[in-house]
Amino acid sequence: MIGKILHSINNNFGKYLFKNPNTLYYNLFNKLHQNFIANKNFETENIKKYFEKGFFKTKINSINFCKYIASEIEKQPINSKDKSFNFEISDQMREKIKDHINNELSPTLKELEKFYNSKISVANIEIRRNFHIDENITEEMYSNFYHVDAYVYNHFKMFINLMDVNIDQGPLHIYSKNNTKKFMKLNNYKNRSNYVNEELIDDLVSNTGKIGESFVASTTECLHKAGEVKKGNYRDILFITFITIPEEIEKNRSDFFYYETKYPKAIWDDGNEVVKIAKPQSLRKTIKLFIEYYKNKLN
Ligand SMILES: [Fe+2]
Repeated sequence: MIGKILHSINNNFGKYLFKNPNTLYYNLFNKLHQNFIANKNFETENIKKYFEKGFFKTKINSINFCKYIASEIEKQPINSKDKSFNFEISDQMREKIKDHINNELSPTLKELEKFYNSKISVANIEIRRNFHIDENITEEMYSNFYHVDAYVYNHFKMFINLMDVNIDQGPLHIYSKNNTKKFMKLNNYKNRSNYVNEELIDDLVSNTGKIGESFVASTTECLHKAGEVKKGNYRDILFITFITIPEEIEKNRSDFFYYETKYPKAIWDDGNEVVKIAKPQSLRKTIKLFIEYYKNKLN
């Protein structure tokens, strides 16, 4: 009984107290982390934006890398029976992806490590094609209903365009942290399948752009969805999920694949073993995670 009440409070009170659809415990965790662990001396425009809005477009040049990935996936047979398709990632592709993350992405990831005051590791990598769906579809096909990802904010994502993406290709739709509150209020947001589906045109950010452009988003704090792909189009995207590492690790470690050593398959498959680190299942476990981050913070 008490368990049930706590469960319901946890699921609903984030909305009332923080005006954010994530759980009460995760909202509390984020607040505490931002006040006692995160480093808010923003040294770069990226991090300032990331903290204030919840996302930023990077200046990383991934054009040649993306052209390579695009040419590799072009060779694969595609099953378009479902509305989205995950491409195979060959050993050679893995090496290129790892190399790109450890080198070209490194300066941006280091900025984020400074902010989070923890080392960062890749938690999951997927290459996906989304196909056309109807704009007024009542069933969720590929995260095309507004939601926040149900993790603490130490779980965040990077989206890399594998093709030029315009509005017809269904780019990521996202609202800043503040506009998430506004959207919830104006659209009577209860959960991902219960809200008024009206965009706040002036506040909506659509991640359109050229091949090779990338975007970092705090998907646990910002309402977002995959845009519906219009007829005759598709969208190819590389998703990288990162998490900041709560346990103690060597401070001079410079790669971003700590969890691949521990869980070799997870990163390239569904990633569950790793991402669940940022998804504590009770108040006690949420507090424990906070303490772990605190104990092992970099500075
Ligand atoms: Fe999401």
